[in-house]
Amino acid sequence: MAKIVTPYNDETRGKKEQVEEMFDNIARRYDFLNHLLSLGIDIRWRKKAVKYIGGIKPLRILDIATGTGDFALEAVTLKPAKVTGLDISEGMMKYGRAKAKTMQVDKVVEFVKGDSEKMEFADNSYDAITVGFGVRNFENLEAGLREMYRVLRPGGRVAILEASQPPNAIIKWVFGLYFNYMVPAVGRLFSKDVRAYTYLPESVRVFPSGFEFIKILENIGFRNVEWKPLTLGVCAFYSMEK
Ligand SMILES: C[S@@+](CC[C@H](N)C(=O)[O-])C[C@H]1O[C@@H](n2cnc3c(N)ncnc32)[C@H](O)[C@@H]1O
Repeated sequence: MAKIVTPYNDETRGKKEQVEEMFDNIARRYDFLNHLLSLGIDIRWRKKAVKYIGGIKPLRILDIATGTGDFALEAVTLKPAKVTGLDISEGMMKYGRAKAKTMQVDKVVEFVKGDSEKMEFADNSYDAITVGFGVRNFENLEAGLREMYRVLRPGGRVAILEASQPPNAIIKWVFGLYFNYMVPAVGRLFSKDVRAYTYLPESVRVFPSGFEFIKILENIGFRNVEWKPLTLGVCAFYSMEK
């Protein structure tokens, strides 16, 4: 059982509540810091993942832990009938809604407040699901994955992106300097939440990655589960079907 890392190390509150508060706090600077700290490469990662789900021409797409909606908005390029972005943080989705409006896709993309571990959607109701940098933040990982499986239709596809540690020892060391020291410093400078960008490397360190995560996904029932390290392994792309 992995160690539970929470944003504020507050033992009186659950991880979910702390995660919601943290993302509400950093929402205003989230997109700016995301693109800055990943040098804009996160945009390419999402495009790759969307291309994968595009292989089945999905009409109903669910973007779990949608945040400010970048994955949901990228999924619009597949010309689906509907994209639903789900998140527990209203603060984050406020920016997603504004972006959808600016891009004139607010009729296609809807943002819904909800918990990925207990979704109000019917069984088999989505053709494809995306999750970008969200699963690491779930309070109960397996409950979230089981829900994902439940709402996906048979034959549907899931694309998960998650931050990870590079497998090569030298790259891991260099990246560690950046991720463990530079990222929290830059995060503190620009965001009003001093813990958020320290929680980021801490939570990546304890999250199951690569084949360990594949095993969990297969136990849930997903098939054809594959894993690809992106950009020297700083991001992991998991693809799978139901
Ligand atoms: C790092 S952000 C990722 C946002 C976006 N997917 C992206 O690619 O930039 C993680 C998001 O997961 C959301 N989240 C965490 N736990 C959740 C849960 N149990 N249910 C729904 N959303 C959750 C947070 O509120 C936050 O907006």
